[in-house]
Amino acid sequence: MRIVYVVGTRPNFVKTAPVIGALRERLPAGRHAIVHTGQHYDRLMSEVFLEELGVPAPDHMLEVGSGSHAAMTARTMERLEPVLLEENPDLLIVPGDVNSTLAAVLVGVKLGIPVAHVESGLRSFDMTMPEEVNRIVADRFSELLFLHSEEAVENLRAEGIPDERMHMVGNTMIDTLVALEGRFRAAGAAARLGVEPGAYALVTLHRPALVDGPLLPQTVEQLAALAHEMPVVFPVHPRTRKMMEDIEPGSPGLLLTDPLGYLDFLSLVADAGAVLTDSGGIQEETTYLGVPCFTLRDNTERPVTVRAGTNTLLGLDPAAIATIPTALSERGPAPSGPPPLWDGRAAERIADVITKGLPR
Ligand code: UD1
Repeated sequence: MRIVYVVGTRPNFVKTAPVIGALRERLPAGRHAIVHTGQHYDRLMSEVFLEELGVPAPDHMLEVGSGSHAAMTARTMERLEPVLLEENPDLLIVPGDVNSTLAAVLVGVKLGIPVAHVESGLRSFDMTMPEEVNRIVADRFSELLFLHSEEAVENLRAEGIPDERMHMVGNTMIDTLVALEGRFRAAGAAARLGVEPGAYALVTLHRPALVDGPLLPQTVEQLAALAHEMPVVFPVHPRTRKMMEDIEPGSPGLLLTDPLGYLDFLSLVADAGAVLTDSGGIQEETTYLGVPCFTLRDNTERPVTVRAGTNTLLGLDPAAIATIPTALSERGPAPSGPPPLWDGRAAERIADVITKGLPR
């Protein structure tokens, strides 16, 4: 069996690494070709991640880099098509909802290659989010849909997608977390940054709705105020860094860092007193780890994290950051644990589905 995996961004690497591992083990004589589109290209956004996750060196680097959505998607499609023609795979595996995902699905489906979508069925119902468009297209055209939470079934049924295409397998991002938990627990990133475990807030912000306009300076101001209550650690995504050039945070408790590797970042999440984010994946990682998460968005495509009791939607409202200290002090009993099948074995289940009927 010949399989091509297409990855392009940090979260893609995290979601795909265990799938590649499980399928390579299950199909040792198969061809497992990894394509890195190059949507993320800075060393801290790409190479460091792949190394730490144990992903073998990509077989094909497309080096598409950044650009407008259309330019990035078109460039990826143009460069991926000859690779897929050369590799001639029986299956194309794509994770998540980024522009690399969208481009890969479109190229695959037009070449008549069956596509498998990992992390299928999430919906924010907010069409202004680029990821929502990408998810809908990926699910519409993928033959195998791998789901990680119950609401995905209803979301897909509502779009007329038949149950036969859906496979509830669990969360491959959590597979990676479980596999590397020993290492990130020992990483001691908080101590290296001079903050005390349990006592600091960890912040990540990168979505265009928040960082590409007037909300960003207001948010930084609120973070500086929060830093009077508890130290704030803020690894800054390159997109956000670009927009922050003119902003002077001006608070001693607010610690800005470059993007971190996977192990240091998860070490900081696990030890945080609270996490403030607009990321999707971090809502899931905090849910697994039982860390209070505050999401600076109006909606989430991951309501399972809110039901689990770890995630609070603050709204797309920087002023709401001021409510975090009180919310933390009034927090109820510890949540009941991660959702079903977020257990470190999702990639095994994906491999079961894909190899069903094949000789072992
Ligand atoms: C992308 C995904 C988003 C995901 C995020 C994870 C889309 C539409 N968005 O957002 O869903 O949550 O990745 O990080 O696919 N840049 C660099 N170096 C890099 C990568 C980006 O400097 O290695 C800068 C560039 O200025 C670029 C900007 O960041 O223009 C945005 O990068 P892009 O890949 O378009 O989107 P992200 O914000 O990273």
